[in-house]
Amino acid sequence: MRLVWTDELKTGVDDIDTQHKEIIDKINRLHEAVKEGRGREYIKEILDFLEGYINSHFSLEERYMADFNYPRQAKMAHVRQHKDLTEKYRELKKEFSEGHMLVTTLLAKEILGLWWVTHIKNTDRLMANFLRERIKGGGIT
Ligand SMILES: [Fe+2]
Repeated sequence: MRLVWTDELKTGVDDIDTQHKEIIDKINRLHEAVKEGRGREYIKEILDFLEGYINSHFSLEERYMADFNYPRQAKMAHVRQHKDLTEKYRELKKEFSEGHMLVTTLLAKEILGLWWVTHIKNTDRLMANFLRERIKGGGIT
């Protein structure tokens, strides 16, 4: 299922939004590659790239939360969600390496779709609202 970027996914923190767009774009490319029947090597390359990109994206958000003293409980809950996705992503790669058809499994549907929309709309937006309050008037990069 193709993910569509809408204003509802906008957090208002520019570099976070840019990275979210890139992630959604790569997830869509992954879905297309599977649909087009691309080879496993090609798909694995996108999967690996996406994994690295997601990791550095999570690091950026977690750095912001630390640098701007995001409340501890909220930070812990947010980081837990990141860890959860990272673990699930690892599982997905394992399934793929065992020969499962990617994107048809429930796990793929969740972590390459619903998880992002839910996380961005709720958890990331909450954090972004806080960050924007802290850094009124300018970008944080
Ligand atoms: Fe996040």
